[in-house]
Amino acid sequence: MVDWVRLELDVDRFDDAEFSLYLRRAEASGARFTTLAELGDTPLHLRALYDLNKTCSADIPDRGPFYTYDEYVAQRIDVPSFDPGGIVLAIHDGTWIGMSATSLHPEPRYAFSEMTGVLAPYRGRGLSLALKLLAIRFVRASGYRRLVAFHHPRNASAIAMNRRLGFTDRAAGD
Ligand SMILES: CC(C)(COP(=O)(O)OP(=O)(O)OC[C@H]1O[C@@H](n2cnc3c(N)ncnc32)[C@H](O)[C@@H]1OP(=O)(O)O)[C@@H](O)C(=O)NCCC(=O)NCCS
Repeated sequence: MVDWVRLELDVDRFDDAEFSLYLRRAEASGARFTTLAELGDTPLHLRALYDLNKTCSADIPDRGPFYTYDEYVAQRIDVPSFDPGGIVLAIHDGTWIGMSATSLHPEPRYAFSEMTGVLAPYRGRGLSLALKLLAIRFVRASGYRRLVAFHHPRNASAIAMNRRLGFTDRAAGD
């Protein structure tokens, strides 16, 4: 059985100013940030989101086979916790290069970081920090305070990314 690393961030205590530097840097290097709400959750855009999520998820340890497109829509899109404003995207020269997807759960009240992923050639440049900054702003603007993430214990980069943002260990059973 996998002993998941369960992390949580109090978004009211998040240092927005520190991480906005990564957003400015990414924009200066040609990346553009938007959301699925801004682009429109059309079938074409949902397919592009699926493709990006699937590609990035291939690097999650022990992830196993990814959803089919229909399964993805049923599990991640056609659910009450889905909000297209919570799908943050990074685009470079027309290519979707990164995403951070956050769902909202009103009872008990928490936001969940479903997936943050950056295409391999664009990694190691602070792009995930810029994406998550925008995801955290979405959580705050939606009136939520707790942002939760679960990671496979061998997913060192994702765990380090979230710790860098101020995520801390969540008590077991919480
Ligand atoms: C996790 C992931 C999103 C990080 O994206 P990235 O844009 O390369 O990360 P960044 O350059 O923004 O780095 C952010 C922080 O994460 C940590 N980090 C990133 N890559 C790391 C690595 N390979 N090893 C250790 N720490 C790493 C560092 O703390 C870094 O901050 P620092 O450079 O200031 O120390 C990317 O590796 C990825 O897409 N992985 C596959 C998908 C995945 O596992 N997603 C998470 C599951 S939801």
